Amino acid sequence: MYNSRITGLGYYVPDNVVTNDDLSKLMDTNDEWIQERTGVKERRWIPKESDDTSAVMGAKASRIAIERAGLTNDDIDFIVFATLSPDYFFPGCGVQIQDMLAMPTIGAIDIRNQCSGFIYAISTADQFIKTGMYKNILVIGADYHSNALLKTTQGRGTAVIFGDGAGACVLSRTEDNTKGVLSSHLHSEGKHADKLIVESPSVRNWVTDLIASKGDDVSYYPYMDGTFVFKNAIVRFSEVIMEGLNTNNLTPADIDLFIPHQANLRISQYVQKKFGLRDDQVFNNIQKYGNTTAASIIIALTEAWEQGKVKENDTVVLAAFGSGFTWGSVIIKW
Ligand code: UT7
Repeated sequence: MYNSRITGLGYYVPDNVVTNDDLSKLMDTNDEWIQERTGVKERRWIPKESDDTSAVMGAKASRIAIERAGLTNDDIDFIVFATLSPDYFFPGCGVQIQDMLAMPTIGAIDIRNQCSGFIYAISTADQFIKTGMYKNILVIGADYHSNALLKTTQGRGTAVIFGDGAGACVLSRTEDNTKGVLSSHLHSEGKHADKLIVESPSVRNWVTDLIASKGDDVSYYPYMDGTFVFKNAIVRFSEVIMEGLNTNNLTPADIDLFIPHQANLRISQYVQKKFGLRDDQVFNNIQKYGNTTAASIIIALTEAWEQGKVKENDTVVLAAFGSGFTWGSVIIKW
């Protein structure tokens, strides 16, 4: 069995900054409420005239990650792409990356696990490397929310949270069994699927049905029962982090850096307090980017690494919770 290590990291966010004050011109909301309840100060939204999409942003982040890994596109053996906002229903974004980066005809899969997408993606890639099947896997998390949010007072519970962006890493084989991805734990509870969902269009409620509803049916916008999701998030975050620590005979004091999925600053702060972590043990950037779903952990990990906050031998804990419900944790010895 081999181990897998992150050898290159990159991220891309659109230039267009949307502040809370900008949103208060579209809906009944205000900077004070958004900052107090979510921590978000601003987010990046792809402007209408831009060519950016989840796949395009993913490709931009990937080029940086591959270069930083000291590799070329031809060295990549497999692509794992996590997103809830693929450019098309089908085919997936993974195959678009294969084409955009002019890679050989390597395999590519999409992971559809929303906020936990990157955790599921890195865990999937890790298994392929552990078994020896692949040496270098490109793992991407990217989401394009802004074109599909209900930007009115009716949609304010979700519209103010989400931002666009992408992150990518190269996961590479190592024979040093003391380094790399130590463990991953993945969970789901599908009975709560309707608590955070985009219901349509789906094969059961297709575009023709939506048009026939003459605008009464707005199930093509995200719906979230925020309070219910919040309550479940803090419980599941805590459980799955503990599960990872116990598997590796670690305690919260052993965590050098905790990078939570950036869902809501209050969720991150709750978990930080529960585990007694100091501020320098936790990295948050939701203030700048909002919740970028599958991209949030990998954007935050890349920023933390760029700022010198991830060092050789550090124990790094990644954890996420979101729609599905799905949740998971990954523990890495850097
Ligand atoms: O990333 C995937 C997983 N997602 C999460 O983990 C998100 C979890 N949930 C949350 O982050 C929070 O529940 C929200 C940020 C979505 C909402 O915060 P909250 O503290 O749970 O607020 P609430 O939904 O209970 O609403 C409180 C009040 C309501 O008004 P009334 O009924 O008390 O008069 C809302 O209508 O705040 C109102 N409200 C707003 N006011 C101004 C809701 N959204 C807004 C808004 N601006 N954007």
